[in-house]
Amino acid sequence: MGLRNIRVNDDPILKKKSRTVESFDERLHTLIDDMKDTMYNAEGCGLAAVQVGVLKRVIVVDTGDGAIELVNPEIIFAEGEQYETEGCLSLPGKSGITKRPMTVKVKAQDRNGKWCQYKGEGLKARAFCHEIDHLDGHLYTERLAPEEIIKQIKQEIETD
Ligand code: NI
Repeated sequence: MGLRNIRVNDDPILKKKSRTVESFDERLHTLIDDMKDTMYNAEGCGLAAVQVGVLKRVIVVDTGDGAIELVNPEIIFAEGEQYETEGCLSLPGKSGITKRPMTVKVKAQDRNGKWCQYKGEGLKARAFCHEIDHLDGHLYTERLAPEEIIKQIKQEIETD
């Protein structure tokens, strides 16, 4: 197991832009393996390399159906919207309701450089968007739903 330290809260690296991966070497494979170990150990459903202090465009996601490794990921299609509660391993103990697309398609390379496409709906779409945001220095706190919508959602929960 290779556990790495998760950067949290005001750590300035979380605001930095990650660099495109060009070498699909042993070092990258170790990083990805360590990221998966770190994500599972922290009971998260996604992790970006910047969160363990490495400014490379690499994310891992597991929303319950196995780990997906995405290198140089890009959202190529987004549709619909969803308002759900989101948290982040880098902002422990906090959560907020965000606005995200309901469906996304992502293209990314695997650990050997081969291009693949993935579709995400619901939770998986949120996870893809959240982790890809990290690669450009964005946190979910910048994607919070408007106050009006949050009020509506809270009312619906109370009257259920
Ligand atoms: Ni996060």
